[in-house]
Amino acid sequence: MTLTEETGDAWQSERRLTAIGRIGLSVPARQAVIDQQIIPGSSVLDYGCGRGADVGALTSMDVAASGWDPYYHPNGRLEAADVVLLTYVLNIIEDPQERRRTLLRAWELAKQSLVVSTRLTWERSKIKGAEFGDGVLTSRRTFQHLFGASELRGYVEDVTGVRCVSAAPGIVYAFKQDEARLSYLARRIAPHVAWLASDDAASAIASVIDQSEQRGRIPRLEEMPGQMAELLAHLSVSELQRLVRSSADSDKIAEGARRSTLTTLLFLALELFNGRGPFSCLPLFVQLDVRAFFSSYKEACQRADRLLLKLRDDSYVRGAMQASKVGKLTPTALYVHRRAIDLMPIVLRLYEHCAAIAAGRPSEWSVLKLRHQGRAVSWLDYPEFNSDPHPRLKSSYVVDLATLKTSLISYDQSANRPLLHRKHEFLSLDDPDVPKCERLTQSEIKAGLYKNPHLIGTEDGWEAELVRCERALRGHRLVRRS
Ligand SMILES: C[S@@+](CC[C@H](N)C(=O)[O-])C[C@H]1O[C@@H](n2cnc3c(N)ncnc32)[C@H](O)[C@@H]1O
Repeated sequence: MTLTEETGDAWQSERRLTAIGRIGLSVPARQAVIDQQIIPGSSVLDYGCGRGADVGALTSMDVAASGWDPYYHPNGRLEAADVVLLTYVLNIIEDPQERRRTLLRAWELAKQSLVVSTRLTWERSKIKGAEFGDGVLTSRRTFQHLFGASELRGYVEDVTGVRCVSAAPGIVYAFKQDEARLSYLARRIAPHVAWLASDDAASAIASVIDQSEQRGRIPRLEEMPGQMAELLAHLSVSELQRLVRSSADSDKIAEGARRSTLTTLLFLALELFNGRGPFSCLPLFVQLDVRAFFSSYKEACQRADRLLLKLRDDSYVRGAMQASKVGKLTPTALYVHRRAIDLMPIVLRLYEHCAAIAAGRPSEWSVLKLRHQGRAVSWLDYPEFNSDPHPRLKSSYVVDLATLKTSLISYDQSANRPLLHRKHEFLSLDDPDVPKCERLTQSEIKAGLYKNPHLIGTEDGWEAELVRCERALRGHRLVRRS
């Protein structure tokens, strides 16, 4: 039964009460700026803009932003824009059909992309009220339909009819053109390699050599920043190639080629997971990498498809975890620090990316956990990982890849939080923090602090063991307790 049927009136839920005053950008608008979905000069329509804080903040960033809201800005400009924001609107609409129509209307108004965000199921405990329809009706008569993170992506895909990507938990992008979706995916995977600054021909050549070493191939003119192409205009393509070949370090070129081959495979496998487009839709640099490092697009796709299939193979995944140069392997999972994840074997990087696209990677996290039985990815947030010798867990966001169910476990209010030991095991060997963490672990072992491993996993147990061994911590040093 809908609210209207129950009461005989339309518009009974107090939707306008859901709009809060905010200073600066909302989380979804901020994400869209970080992801370069919104750039200076682009036009943005904030559909259901509430009090208009995002419109104000975007306008001050040279974005042509306008907003419309049935209560706060009913006379706002309701015209198509490059990017349409639909921020925390769907979750407050109690009528499922109207919810769908609203999403469709926002999609129709988007010329390039739609950014949809909603509140998520894990916020249920924060909302007091009675079950109503497919959501909750609060005592203020506001309504909330909380979405699961991957449910939201599926819903947007269903209504828009296009493949969507979770940018973060509760934030989904839908693109009008496949090229834009693939460029976004490519940017998520391939780190941007900055061009060295150059103001004359010699420094421009040095910059091209550096790029060639990093990418494993000579970049094409179309890939260069505008000013660089001008500085190199006096050279023919073959002269530039000869110059690079004679000056670049061949070992670095080989290493760059290996890295680019793996990144291309990772991209193509992820593309298969998210929906493969034709070769011509791929970003230019991916097309050029395919030409440079594979015999054909078909061969590249076949290898990428095999890689994606390997994700289902328990023994292959476990083997990759055992072979991984980074991370701590336990009987259930591999744990890797954020700074080291690009050093994981490619199948494990794919594992993480698939979960991120399905349900969103949170912005705050420091340690990645990949299960080897079943497929589940957790992003663990230890906010003080760098400064605390035994970082305390703040939250864990888990995506089960088999069911696409997500959950957030928060330890914020917990008086006895889980904590980490042997921090260096999560880092790569060349991480500058490794020596001090290793030294600390050695002194802790020597002091007998790891004799009762079942006790030290949480704050209270660890503190009790420190007292028992008459030790205390001063930064990353273990000292006698006075
Ligand atoms: C939770 S507020 C979010 C406001 C704003 N987007 C923000 O994030 O600050 C939900 C907004 O949706 C608006 N709204 C309600 N029904 C709507 C509909 N059918 N279409 C568009 N907006 C609607 C409400 O007026 C309200 O301002």
